Amino acid sequence: MSEVVKHIKDITAGVGPVEALTELAELFPGEIVFSTSFGWEDQVISHMIFANKLPIKVFTLETGRLFRETYSVWSSTMDRYKQPIHAYFPNQDLVADMVNKKGPNSFYESVENRKECCGIRKIEPLKRALKGNKVWITGIRADQSINRHDMENVEWDEQNQLVKFHPIFNWTLDEVKAYVKQYNIPYNSLHDQGFPSIGCAPCTRAVAEGEDFRAGRWWWEDQSKKECGLHEIKQH
Ligand code: ADX
Ligand code: SF4
Repeated sequence: MSEVVKHIKDITAGVGPVEALTELAELFPGEIVFSTSFGWEDQVISHMIFANKLPIKVFTLETGRLFRETYSVWSSTMDRYKQPIHAYFPNQDLVADMVNKKGPNSFYESVENRKECCGIRKIEPLKRALKGNKVWITGIRADQSINRHDMENVEWDEQNQLVKFHPIFNWTLDEVKAYVKQYNIPYNSLHDQGFPSIGCAPCTRAVAEGEDFRAGRWWWEDQSKKECGLHEIKQH
């Protein structure tokens, strides 16, 4: 375990998420960012950052394929907190090449095409957003998938060469919902329509009662391949 991971583990152990975020923001000025996809976990963390005016840069990956409802909650979040949310867009030449060659929906045709699209619309912009930073905050929770149960709330990200911290890693979905309700935080209306996990519109569907949390993401693919590469899963 690298020194910095151990240091952050020590700082964040036994304190609540707001305190942990406050400490980290002080320790890494100008080098700590939070990525939001405007799902309710992310809305909880945005609230913690914005309501406490923590100096943590909030950014989103604007893939160009988001749901109308996601743009609505993005907009209402800006109205509510009056603080910046930085949008990172894909490189337009790369998108144009892909779409001109393979059409707008190539991701349904093969895992390779899907990864190409995620690579262009998410991974490359993510690299730009993370550049020069030391800590990346996300809204990941252990409960979201079997893979995520194997993760830890503080991790070294080899790909991006920084530390990832998931401040509400151990929260249950009910705790997330209760927090959203308590503070009247704007949230994506799709959550009330069977969408527990929300990504790009063409790659997310509603799930049925009892179905897995992430069953609606890239639902046409084999279970084991269903991460887009933002969050690489360590093999144990
Ligand atoms: S994904 O890898 O399957 O797309 P998921 O939707 O579960 O990820 O979200 C997990 C975390 O990844 C979010 O809490 C957020 O920090 C980050 N994330 C996912 N999608 C985006 C996005 N479009 N923009 C910014 N951050 C994102
Ligand atoms: Fe492309 Fe779908 Fe990945 Fe979004 S989730 S970047 S539309 S393949």
